Amino acid sequence: MRATPFLLTALSGLASLVQAYPKEGSTLAKRASNSTTDRLVFAHFMIGITSNRNSADDYDDDMKNAKAYGIDAFALNIGVDPYTDQQLGYAYDSAAKNGMNVFISFDFNWWSTSQASEIGQKIAQYGVKPAQLKVDNKTFVSSFAGDGLDVAAMRTAATGMELFFAPNFHPEQGTDLTEVDGLLNWMAWPNDGNNKAPTAGANVTVQAGDDAYTKALGDKAYIAPASAWFSTHFGPEVSYSKNWIFPSDSLWFDRWQELLTLGPRFIEIVTWNDYGESHYIGPLNSPHTDDGASKWVNDMPHDGWLDMAKPFIAAFKDGATSADSYITDDELIYWYRPTPRGIDCDSTDTCMVTANNDSGNYFMGRPNGWEDMQDSVFVVSLFTDDATIKVTSGNGTAQTIDAKAGASIHQVPMGVGEQSFTVTRSGTTVFSGKSLKQIIDGCVCGLYNFNAYVGSLPAGPSDPLQSAGLQSLTQGLHVSTCSATPSLGTAPASSTPAAVAAKPTN
Ligand SMILES: *[C@@H]1O[C@H](CO)[C@@H](O)[C@H](O)[C@H]1NC(C)=O
Ligand SMILES: *[C@@H]1O[C@H](CO)[C@@H](O)[C@H](O)[C@H]1NC(C)=O
Ligand SMILES: *[C@@H]1O[C@H](CO)[C@@H](O)[C@H](O)[C@H]1NC(C)=O
Ligand SMILES: *[C@@H]1O[C@H](CO)[C@@H](O)[C@H](O)[C@H]1NC(C)=O
Ligand SMILES: *[C@@H]1O[C@H](CO)[C@@H](O)[C@H](O)[C@H]1NC(C)=O
Repeated sequence: MRATPFLLTALSGLASLVQAYPKEGSTLAKRASNSTTDRLVFAHFMIGITSNRNSADDYDDDMKNAKAYGIDAFALNIGVDPYTDQQLGYAYDSAAKNGMNVFISFDFNWWSTSQASEIGQKIAQYGVKPAQLKVDNKTFVSSFAGDGLDVAAMRTAATGMELFFAPNFHPEQGTDLTEVDGLLNWMAWPNDGNNKAPTAGANVTVQAGDDAYTKALGDKAYIAPASAWFSTHFGPEVSYSKNWIFPSDSLWFDRWQELLTLGPRFIEIVTWNDYGESHYIGPLNSPHTDDGASKWVNDMPHDGWLDMAKPFIAAFKDGATSADSYITDDELIYWYRPTPRGIDCDSTDTCMVTANNDSGNYFMGRPNGWEDMQDSVFVVSLFTDDATIKVTSGNGTAQTIDAKAGASIHQVPMGVGEQSFTVTRSGTTVFSGKSLKQIIDGCVCGLYNFNAYVGSLPAGPSDPLQSAGLQSLTQGLHVSTCSATPSLGTAPASSTPAAVAAKPTN
């Protein structure tokens, strides 16, 4: 079965070369563009998991939602599956209906660098559609990997149009960059230079990647990556077993701050809907198929992360270095893993047996890198004025935080049980509520689940996985207590006080 394209697989061994690049520390390379009017924000969208969509209408909610948050275009990641053209057509049509833009991102896990003319023809086929993103009046095209592609041949095959080609090539491989207009850097997470969690001896920051790319690009456009999380936990129930995390705790907030300072021409959010690697910021109810990722995705909405990005996206487009003056309403966004990291799930976890490790991506038990995640609840305040936050995390001691107006991040120790939050200003409650998800002293579906639950106050709408997105939840599970149904409660209409307690998922 062709499931979620496992994007990072192809980078094994390639990314290691990043280390060879001189580390510039805080010397941020010069900006690719000084103009703030030509800045755009993209979100990477996996067509490989939307084969079950039946019409352009099925894309409308994604288009409207992303646009409302200031996202300018979806980078439509495509492989070579038989359904690809039908789904691309739906996505382009929906984007046109909804005033959104899209472009193709060729995934070279599936496409071959020898296919320059087929790729050029595919670009020509879609580039004439009204929703095609144009940059500098040229058809915008990107990729995942693809170093070695004959770019000139691809341009020739894209008859009738000029291209703005900004692929995810890797300067450290010595790839010839004369034919590109820009580059996408995929590595949105601190890493070891070899596509796994950092180690003491190999610890590559996201900024080191920014430095390497911007240096190689000179005046050409940089697409800087922004991601909220990375955790994947596929065992032998699939052929592409993989089990690791990248350090993610406060990454989403920290990265946006960095990006406002860096000021690249483009930002690509990685991703809108890659559930398997837990870096989705789009809704769970966005229609998609399931390759078993629902084991760690069910009841784990990330919508609050999209909310958090909104003032940062607005600030970025204005060339501002702070999101503070783009906050128009008070909001609290919080996230945490569903269990403390030391919980022992060895007797029921799906990754306790040997599995195919040709990729080098498989580890037994807790995901590789688990020690990098703190047992904390992370809280981002987007406040119109100074306010006090009280966090009661389970059986821990209540914590009081004085938060300033603007955007700031706070961290309190994780406690097992209910998670409740109250915001007061001058003695008056602004909002208060309980999270729909408890932290448990146990194993979610028997697993080591290092995905994050994201909530917000005021509480957002209910966002359950649909049945297609749950279809492989129980496949390979070692417990029978876990069923393929959403189990979060629903937040009441009023957010003060918000939410009902959900029963823990075991
Ligand atoms: C961008 O701005 C900097 C600082 O103001 C200036 O030194 C540089 O020449 C500008 N670059 C371009 C391409 O305009
Ligand atoms: C953009 O391209 C279109 C069609 O090729 C052309 O009509 C138009 O004049 C171009 N605009 C600019 C600003 O170059
Ligand atoms: C990697 O470096 C960061 C600081 O840049 C540090 O916080 C982290 O602990 C390091 N990770 C490892 C595994 O040494
Ligand atoms: C899988 O391969 C990687 C890379 O060689 C290795 O670090 C890891 O320990 C292997 N996993 C298992 C379960 O042997
Ligand atoms: C909270 O509960 C956990 C799990 O039951 C327990 O290990 C921990 O000691 C408790 N902490 C406090 C402060 O009571």
